Amino acid sequence: MTILVVGNMGYVGPVLVQHLRQAYPQAVLIGYDAGLFAHCLLGAVALPEIMLDRQIFGDVRHLDKTMLEGVDVVVNLAAISNDPIGNRFEDATLAINYTAAVELAAKAKQAGVHSYVFASSCSVYGCAEEGAKTESSTLDPLTAYARSKVMAEKKLIPMADERFTVTCLRFATACGMSDRLRLDLVLNDFVAGALTQKKIVVMSDGTPWRPLINVKDMARAIDWAIGRKATNGGKGLVVNVGSNEWNCQVKDLAHAVAAAIPGVDISINTNAPPDKRSYRVSYDLFKELAPGFQPRFDLKSTILEMTDGLQKAGFQNAAYRESQFMRLNVINKFREQGLLDEKLRLSFGNG
Ligand SMILES: NC(=O)c1ccc[n+]([C@@H]2O[C@H](COP(=O)([O-])OP(=O)(O)OC[C@H]3O[C@@H](n4cnc5c(N)ncnc54)[C@H](O)[C@@H]3O)[C@@H](O)[C@H]2O)c1
Repeated sequence: MTILVVGNMGYVGPVLVQHLRQAYPQAVLIGYDAGLFAHCLLGAVALPEIMLDRQIFGDVRHLDKTMLEGVDVVVNLAAISNDPIGNRFEDATLAINYTAAVELAAKAKQAGVHSYVFASSCSVYGCAEEGAKTESSTLDPLTAYARSKVMAEKKLIPMADERFTVTCLRFATACGMSDRLRLDLVLNDFVAGALTQKKIVVMSDGTPWRPLINVKDMARAIDWAIGRKATNGGKGLVVNVGSNEWNCQVKDLAHAVAAAIPGVDISINTNAPPDKRSYRVSYDLFKELAPGFQPRFDLKSTILEMTDGLQKAGFQNAAYRESQFMRLNVINKFREQGLLDEKLRLSFGNG
């Protein structure tokens, strides 16, 4: 089996590649990425990409179809992956997260790829506090990022047929350790704040609901999607990925971190305007379709994993919100240096 992981050099990618290498030791694993965050490693004992058979640097908007020859599975993680960047670079976000994702699927289908796995997001539910949202609930994408995921899903699902399975995984917000850690994700931010400043600064009033999933469990869900048969969920499937038990309010996350790390203060911004991005999500369908791939990590074990991982990496940077572990800071730095244009294309053109 040959698996192409597009967008493999971000936060999720290294964890996925490690999982796939263990799960499919004989498989040919190929990575394709623009490399925007390739240098943002934390505590890695080795470059994550050495587990691949091949790493290609390139822009997903210009992925040459010859790269899909002989490929059985495409996992598409490539994206402008958060709201602040998405709002600032809306056109690029739609071009990468939506147009390129659909074009990649079309090229893959034509090349004879039989499974396309797309990393979508539960943020498509937007403002959804009354009851848990299911896959058939109304969507309310509030940001360019969330809109790009809705638009992509809508075009991808009808592309599925007997020979081309499409699985859109609507992931909860990720957390947990990765060789390319992101600290712009809520739980990761809280653990970093607790360890380095003895303080958790909650930007909102703490009331928004935010379901979470450990990045290792995301990798297992992708593994399930790779092997999924059309008889299990249909040729084209959209499914929420996370666990019902892990629908938490942001303030509960802060309290859980403070309970695990002694001497930590929590500062909640009671004057913050209400954060409309608040959703509770039902993961019943995922439970039904993928009983052997349910999340293993919970809030407590993930906080422990992160505390341990950050301490082992010697992470002490109290100014981490200014660091390269926030995706927007890296993009801004590239822009300042003139290396990235308004469309978020690298000026030295790796594709
Ligand atoms: N992290 C989360 O909480 C979360 C939750 C739900 C869904 N997702 C989705 O999972 C996927 C992976 O998320 P992540 O946290 O690893 O994001 P990330 O930002 O860490 O990684 C994204 C990767 O895509 C690459 N990329 C961006 N633009 C590209 C382009 N034009 N051409 C080629 N590569 C490009 C980047 O270089 C990076 O390596 C994304 O699609 C994201 O939307 C993530």
